[in-house]
Amino acid sequence: MPFLFPPSLSHTYTNTRPDTTHAQFRRSQSMSTQKISSRRGLWLGILISFVLVSLIGGVLWTFRASSFNSILPERFFEPLLKVQGVKLAPTPPARVKTDEEIASYVVSLDILSHRPFHSKSFKIAFMFLTRGPLPHEHIWERFFKGHESMYSVFVHASEEGHSRISPIFMGRDIWSKKVFWGKIDMIDAERRLLANALLDKDNKYFVLLSESCIPLWDFNYIYEHLSNSSISYVDCFYDPGPHGAGRYLDGMKPEVQHSDFHKGAQWFAVHRQHALLILADSLYYRKFKEFCKPGDANRNCYPDEHYVQTLLHIIDPQGISNWSVTYVDWTDQKAHPRSFHAGDINLSLLEKIKNITVSSHVTSDLKKLETKQPCLWNGVKYPCYLFARKFSADSSNHLEAILFNNAHQSADQPIRE
Ligand SMILES: *[C@@H]1O[C@H](CO)[C@@H](O)[C@H](O)[C@H]1NC(C)=O
Ligand SMILES: *[C@@H]1O[C@H](CO)[C@@H](O)[C@H](O)[C@H]1NC(C)=O
Ligand SMILES: *[C@@H]1O[C@H](CO)[C@@H](O)[C@H](O)[C@H]1NC(C)=O
Ligand SMILES: *[C@@H]1O[C@H](CO)[C@@H](O)[C@H](O)[C@H]1NC(C)=O
Repeated sequence: MPFLFPPSLSHTYTNTRPDTTHAQFRRSQSMSTQKISSRRGLWLGILISFVLVSLIGGVLWTFRASSFNSILPERFFEPLLKVQGVKLAPTPPARVKTDEEIASYVVSLDILSHRPFHSKSFKIAFMFLTRGPLPHEHIWERFFKGHESMYSVFVHASEEGHSRISPIFMGRDIWSKKVFWGKIDMIDAERRLLANALLDKDNKYFVLLSESCIPLWDFNYIYEHLSNSSISYVDCFYDPGPHGAGRYLDGMKPEVQHSDFHKGAQWFAVHRQHALLILADSLYYRKFKEFCKPGDANRNCYPDEHYVQTLLHIIDPQGISNWSVTYVDWTDQKAHPRSFHAGDINLSLLEKIKNITVSSHVTSDLKKLETKQPCLWNGVKYPCYLFARKFSADSSNHLEAILFNNAHQSADQPIRE
């Protein structure tokens, strides 16, 4: 940080033209007094830097402590706080941030400081990222019925030419491009959905869903949970194994360090400020576009499992839940999660999913270390999942019958154990 060094410490000669005798005269004149004045300058410099550092550190500390609380990413303040003596633990010297990082940080800070929650017009944007068809339209139509001013729907279809049946989905397809699964196109499609949904100022939460997703609860239950929240629900953890940090390439340095590279399921529910951050980011996006590809350097890096997760982990680690509100069954431990067909689905299966109150992560290394965390909503333990996947197209009628006959009563009480 150049402004921490006052001019007296940096020896700048304003007149260095060698051909002017005047300059030579002035320099030789000052030679004799150089030693004394430079020592005095040094002490003055140290004093001024100290005052400056304490001042800036102090201002930032109060600023951080009072107005922002958990919003601010701590890491950026570390160098200043350490100088001030707030953090005493010996840590390696902080890396000098690039111009772009500082710019990105300032923009992020400003976006995060405006959190207009609990406004009267609070809508949830349901963003469907699909290959083409939407097999569960009827289920969603019944789910949305009677809540017209409280939601909006956007569809991004990779293939064109799929007509929608329900009025909920008619005319809701946005301009789209073909998505190659596992590539950066997926992030582009997510950003396209976010951009369209952000146009409506009332949209405060942005839920990314696939065609195989279903809602687990009725609309009011989901609306209440999201409208009460002040964090984003993004699945995120550090996996040291080959399917986690093993996918990292050094080209991502210095902006994305190895330890920053996180992993999680693609299906997020983010609040408006995080949606804006994802849209506004180009710094980290470019790194993932270049260095996170399937088949790159013999590792399959899928941006949809790393980009949003790592971005939000770097910018606002306290602001995300670290689990996804969309359930998926990975227990088979195959390349793809389990698909549920009509024959697999009954009321008790759905009840079991709705009953889960602890989320878990398993590392992909040989240790297969499992970490569990309770799903807390504003500090209160509630079921983790609002949505679930993957439910096949052929199961839609069967599912509709089960969901709307039985399983859609709300759990009014938080779960206590
Ligand atoms: C949402 O907030 C209201 C009012 O603060 C509270 O009564 C309710 O229990 C909260 N619901 C959830 C799901 O957190
Ligand atoms: C999510 O994980 C980060 C560490 O990566 C942690 O700082 C943060 O508090 C976690 N979020 C919640 C809501 O527990
Ligand atoms: C529900 O389906 C599961 C398989 O998905 C099965 O194991 C279970 O026995 C079924 N329960 C009932 C009550 O039919
Ligand atoms: C839900 O979980 C509770 C406690 O973990 C258990 O007592 C209850 O039987 C479960 N219900 C269902 C439907 O699985």
